Amino acid sequence: MQIIEVADPAEAAAFAADLIEEHAPRVLGAATGATPEPLYRLLVARQRLAPTTTVCLLDEYIGLPVGHRQRYRHVIEAQLVNPLGLTVVAPDVDAIDPTAACRRYEDALVELGGIDLQILGIGRNGHIGFNEPGTSFDTVTHVVELAATTRADNARCFDGLSGVPTHAITQGIANIRRAKRIVLIAFGRRKANAVSAMLGGPVSTASPASALRDHRDLVVIADREALTQRNIIQSHSFGTA
Ligand code: GLP
Repeated sequence: MQIIEVADPAEAAAFAADLIEEHAPRVLGAATGATPEPLYRLLVARQRLAPTTTVCLLDEYIGLPVGHRQRYRHVIEAQLVNPLGLTVVAPDVDAIDPTAACRRYEDALVELGGIDLQILGIGRNGHIGFNEPGTSFDTVTHVVELAATTRADNARCFDGLSGVPTHAITQGIANIRRAKRIVLIAFGRRKANAVSAMLGGPVSTASPASALRDHRDLVVIADREALTQRNIIQSHSFGTA
């Protein structure tokens, strides 16, 4: 694992964009949320991703009407896919049988040959995608009930908490671990506990992101605030990174 401390989101975006362009992923896994937005803006501005790149969604809410501005497919299309003329692959959250839709998404990922590079954020509770604390590390794409903290955090994107869906489809932790490269980005003090648990706490389902710690090609890009707790945990119980 490589930990890159950056000054701000712009520096994180520049570092991540260089890395992504250098590896030229055929299949790019894309997270949503505020964190990767500067990165997507930069990738669009530079226009260096091959138009043959396929972008796979990490997760998607269930129950939002087609055209809703918070449908992650719509968000990723608007922020990354359409401006660069890429192809997007997403789980079918409108399917009558969401479990069957998860299986079809798994098949699609296999057919693509897996994710070459996965961009990730992290939830305040340590979630990756919508894999909430307690999720087994061997899960593949599945339907999740969102944690109360996740719904509360994401309420800012809706007209209040009642508008936030209760369920979603997410790639599982096993999918994310299978990605050939992972770039996880975190900013701000509100992510410090999640980042410290990921980097220095026990590898445990209590911290879904800790499942990535032994990944062979993981780059964590974070600002000083997100890394503040890390030194405390390391010096008390975990030695060096
Ligand atoms: C959301 C997404 C995650 C994202 C996380 C953090 O719930 N499902 O993929 O990483 O929350 O979001 P933000 O970057 O806005 O803090």
